[in-house]
Amino acid sequence: MQNRRKICAKLTSSFLRKWWFIIIIALVLLLFGVLVTFFFTAWVNLIIDNQITLRDGSQVFNLWRKPPVHPVMQIYVYNVTNADEFLNHGVKPVLEELGPFTYVETWEKVNLTFNDNGTVTFQQQKIFRFDPDRSVGSEDDMVVVPNIPMLSATSQSKHAARFLRLAMASIMDILKIKPFVEVTVGQLLWGYEDPLLKLAKDVVPKEQKLPYEEFGLMYGKNGTAKDIVTVFTGAGDITRYGLVDTFNGKTHMSHWTTEKCNRVMGSDGSIFPPHISKEDTIYIYDKDICRLLPLIFQKEVITDGGVPGYRFTPPLDVFSDIEHNPENECFCPSGPPCAPHGLFNVSLCQYDSPVMLSFPHFYLADPKLIEAVEGISPPEAEKHELFIDIQPTMGTSLRARARIQINLAVSQVVDIKQVATFPDIVFPIMWFEDGIDGLPTEVTNLMNIATTIPPVARAALLHALFITGALLLVLAVFCLVRNSGRQETLSLEGTAHFATNDEKNKKMKTQNGHSNGKALETRTNPAFMDDNTS
Ligand SMILES: *[C@@H]1O[C@H](CO)[C@@H](O)[C@H](O)[C@H]1NC(C)=O
Ligand SMILES: *[C@@H]1O[C@H](CO)[C@@H](O)[C@H](O)[C@H]1NC(C)=O
Ligand SMILES: *[C@@H]1O[C@H](CO)[C@@H](O)[C@H](O)[C@H]1NC(C)=O
Ligand SMILES: *[C@@H]1O[C@H](CO)[C@@H](O)[C@H](O)[C@H]1NC(C)=O
Ligand SMILES: *[C@@H]1O[C@H](CO)[C@@H](O)[C@H](O)[C@H]1NC(C)=O
Repeated sequence: MQNRRKICAKLTSSFLRKWWFIIIIALVLLLFGVLVTFFFTAWVNLIIDNQITLRDGSQVFNLWRKPPVHPVMQIYVYNVTNADEFLNHGVKPVLEELGPFTYVETWEKVNLTFNDNGTVTFQQQKIFRFDPDRSVGSEDDMVVVPNIPMLSATSQSKHAARFLRLAMASIMDILKIKPFVEVTVGQLLWGYEDPLLKLAKDVVPKEQKLPYEEFGLMYGKNGTAKDIVTVFTGAGDITRYGLVDTFNGKTHMSHWTTEKCNRVMGSDGSIFPPHISKEDTIYIYDKDICRLLPLIFQKEVITDGGVPGYRFTPPLDVFSDIEHNPENECFCPSGPPCAPHGLFNVSLCQYDSPVMLSFPHFYLADPKLIEAVEGISPPEAEKHELFIDIQPTMGTSLRARARIQINLAVSQVVDIKQVATFPDIVFPIMWFEDGIDGLPTEVTNLMNIATTIPPVARAALLHALFITGALLLVLAVFCLVRNSGRQETLSLEGTAHFATNDEKNKKMKTQNGHSNGKALETRTNPAFMDDNTS
């Protein structure tokens, strides 16, 4: 009791002279507590948004422009081991999955220009270097694969005039073009001279010309892409951070039937608009996939360096046929019939070659497709699913596996004798996995700090504010009650002014000496008693 009295005496006697002053302080602290409760996260988000915005010279900008990580591309090629029997005896093709052939990539964005509308324009440079240590096999391994330029030409001629097909057959005879080619892995990927493409280059009218006379699945991809990309920097509108504004000057593709399906406003997979929730659908744009690829939340994961993230994967029906996913109707401009279940027809993006994308091993596709060939093991989500692990607060990609299989949808054309026995089939050619495993430790450390500190700081601040505020308030109210108790007693005694100010108290004490001191003594006693009883 003596202590409480002392506290009250101190509170009222020190520089905080009046109890209501303390109540105001307490209320201000509590108010700050409420503000922190409601707005702290928003403030932190504002700071994060400001920090990640792509600005010339900023740290995030430099990481984005020239990522310190080296993505790794692993390629698996389906080697055809029974080409002759397949053509001559109508047996299923027997495939042997070769690889991985591993390439370490170095990415850099070049020719950067900032525009004044919150966007930046650049060209993407990717350098691929073969990594023999992480590969099974060498780039010089010989493989037998379908002759894609030839089969594209014959499949396309299916609806042309018959004499054209016959003419094609004789040209192919002269040029000794066969439905399967034997090339090295390096050639298949990076290009070999193809007689048909060479011919086409000379005879086809300029505007329909193919851009190259070599054929390779990754032809022209080693180096700086010609495509000019404009993305949002996040300045002004963080909700579009990292998304493509225009691709070669266009905000939309022209292949598909609806505006929505033609959009290119997706991320390249490295950065996403921040503050991602589990309910969000995020989008990736890749020129070769020829559409926005939606990704939805799958699960929470812990990535390298202990950074927690959200795993996003495409919805299971992303490549479904129209019966299973009517939204895909826009991707079938010349249908029906449309692409089989689990395949995505990119023919319009690939100079009309009948190229179909799927997930590796026909994951999530019609089981008939895998049954049509031999030698492909059943798909497994773990090995064949596409995913990106994202740090949700900042929208940074932590780990990724972009997995896609390239197939050729061959149509039987009986008039062309070289391919007359090549049946209608979706022929798998190869699949790849483009991935990053983690970010450098400096970056993950920063991320851990940036994501763990704010909640801790918030909790600490809330506790400090609410506890101090509440304590001061209780104390002040307590002293108020005491003082009003005094005041009542004093009023009864007729010296009401006495309790209002301690300073006066002291003065009175010293001036009037003993008698007032006694009055104080007697005055405080009833309150003292009150405290004891309550
Ligand atoms: C690919 O298959 C062919 C037979 O069609 C074979 O001669 C060749 O050795 C195989 N390539 C590899 C790398 O195994
Ligand atoms: C930048 O663009 C110019 C012309 O647009 C081009 O000639 C040059 O090669 C580009 N620079 C790089 C590094 O790609
Ligand atoms: C921003 O400016 C660039 C360059 O002038 C332009 O290509 C782009 O379309 C503009 N984007 C928007 C959203 O205005
Ligand atoms: C890609 O180009 C670089 C040089 O620009 C070269 O060193 C590298 O070998 C090339 N990679 C492939 C797979 O051709
Ligand atoms: C793929 O798309 C092209 C262009 O729309 C079309 O001509 C072709 O028939 C389609 N292929 C299949 C198998 O649907």
